[in-house]
Amino acid sequence: MKLVLLGAPGAGKGTQSAILAEKLGAPMISTGNILRAAVRNKTPVGLRAKEYMDKGELVPDEVIIGIMRERMAEPDCAGGYILDGMPRTIAQAEALEAGGVEVETALSIEISDEEIVSRMTGRRTCPECGATYHTVYEPPRKEGVCDKCGHKLAIRRDDEPETVLNRLKVYHAETEPLKDFYKKRGKLKTVGNRNGIAETTRIIFEALGI
Ligand code: AP5
Repeated sequence: MKLVLLGAPGAGKGTQSAILAEKLGAPMISTGNILRAAVRNKTPVGLRAKEYMDKGELVPDEVIIGIMRERMAEPDCAGGYILDGMPRTIAQAEALEAGGVEVETALSIEISDEEIVSRMTGRRTCPECGATYHTVYEPPRKEGVCDKCGHKLAIRRDDEPETVLNRLKVYHAETEPLKDFYKKRGKLKTVGNRNGIAETTRIIFEALGI
């Protein structure tokens, strides 16, 4: 399956992509996680991306398209993948099509801006493996420690309230038009946000027929 997850920052794309990846046995490709690793490792891409990410702006399309081409050429992607956070602009979606990538479904997780702001304040992430938690909705077994790799959890720099508001603005201007892009191609499915990760997973599985 070649699946794209759409949705505002904090809609639950990362959380649900990880669950879907396990269920479908397909890799989850998160451009956000790839970029954060590049920033941590101070690679040329990371140094360039950091200035955009810290402000809640999008990283330029040509950087993202290069990253995606490289990642999707890896052997584990041969049977399909789940794209979390890409495409995020019409230009990125067109680049996927031009590269021969046939997206089967674009699934949009719908959530209000107010709900997002409250979610972001509780998010904790693992800087080492990218796993995501929430202090109330999905706490780790041991407070402040990643269940998966034992690393200390952190608050993402771009989860500062002011940056979140800018990310929302950018989402509505640049990314939301993708819903129309995929709707015109008969590939868009939308699911309403549910309070609770398990309930959201249930309606996503239902929408995808899995
Ligand atoms: P990225 O990492 O992709 O961030 P994002 O899209 O803003 O999405 P988030 O990771 O913030 O949220 P999410 O939807 O994955 O929600 P999550 O599952 O964590 O990108 C970061 C930056 O990188 C961008 O701003 C940009 O600069 C750059 N970038 C990345 N890709 C790019 C691209 N293609 N082009 C250009 N630039 C790019 O959930 C949020 C919280 O809520 C968690 O704590 C979770 O536990 C909790 N939660 C989830 N679901 C529920 C639920 N149903 N009920 C209650 N709590 C829930």
